[in-house]
Amino acid sequence: MRNDSLTPASVPDSAIAILPATSSAISPHADGTLVDKYGRHVTYIRLSITDRCDFRCNYCMAEEMTFLPRAQVLTLEECLRIAASFVDLGVTKVRVTGGEPLVRQNVVWLLEKIAALPGLKELVITTNGSQLDRFAPALRAAGVKRINVSLDTLRPDRFRAITRVGDLGRVLRGLDAAQAAGFSRLKLNTVMMRGSNDDELIELAQFAVDRGIDIAFIEEMPLGEIGHGRQSSYFSSEEAIARLEQRFVLLPSTESTGGPARYWRIPGTATRVGFISPHSHNFCESCNRVRITARGELYPCLGNNDALALLPLLRAHPIDDRPLRAAIVHSMGIKAKGHEFSSQMEVPQVVRFMSMTGG
Ligand code: 5AD
Ligand code: SF4
Repeated sequence: MRNDSLTPASVPDSAIAILPATSSAISPHADGTLVDKYGRHVTYIRLSITDRCDFRCNYCMAEEMTFLPRAQVLTLEECLRIAASFVDLGVTKVRVTGGEPLVRQNVVWLLEKIAALPGLKELVITTNGSQLDRFAPALRAAGVKRINVSLDTLRPDRFRAITRVGDLGRVLRGLDAAQAAGFSRLKLNTVMMRGSNDDELIELAQFAVDRGIDIAFIEEMPLGEIGHGRQSSYFSSEEAIARLEQRFVLLPSTESTGGPARYWRIPGTATRVGFISPHSHNFCESCNRVRITARGELYPCLGNNDALALLPLLRAHPIDDRPLRAAIVHSMGIKAKGHEFSSQMEVPQVVRFMSMTGG
């Protein structure tokens, strides 16, 4: 759904429709929660606190990335105001992402503050694991409930090739540190890429089983222009399931997180195996989430370019959060019914990078 009152000057690509956030008074749903035009309750936000990352994964970033100037990035106080306003409006789960959230200075301060918001049930983070060896105890103490760690391969040379700069050993030490700090329900996120790591899916699942943790296999999404067509590397969940069934029994599980993941259990183990299929399965009907980028754009739908610019509103009203809350309520009216990805992936349909929106 497009709106004529665009402000394309605020974004690098005019294909993104950033709508000025309105501060007109609209009330939330009668029970105080956020409900969109299609009756979906939004109870979960994914908040990207930085577009920077210490890795350069080849499916996520161009080799030479230009990061945002600091003034265009939400301050930690602004991140907190956004999280607090959503929680006031009934959101119960916040995921802090990036880029790599743990490269942001004073991230632990923000996590403590978000964890303490009255009404919040779950604060979770997504990280590449590069800093977990030193941060794990502090994250636990701050009140983080669960950690998702990206891990696409268990081979050091391959890890270096995919991340361009990352050190697998450090990430594995980070996983140890997180488990030692008491994060028992860690989850691995693995992006599947034909010809790159598709021959390792069984090993990765076995690694999760051996550690008693969960793993989600993610189909590559057409986000950001990274300089190669993705069609050749696309590897579907169906194919992954068939491969894993060569080694494991997979029992379908009914649990749903309201997102694009379907979960399976491996009997006799503590491990759940998820498959995230943004292309092949329609999960939009049960969507319960919105995303906020590091520059304060509120994206009601991952697969749709419409967004609200919250940063100008935050800065125009440094003390009063009512305009911010009104804009959040207003955003429910522009949440798209469904996503716009297709499997014709040569042209990126959504031009922003995952490091902007968070995973
Ligand atoms: N498609 C699928 N997953 C992606 N990620 C980053 N970019 C993409 C993409 N284009 C993953 C990261 C991480 C999660 C947050 O998103 O690897 O696991
Ligand atoms: Fe960084 Fe994650 Fe992107 Fe890799 S996928 S470059 S770890 S933000």
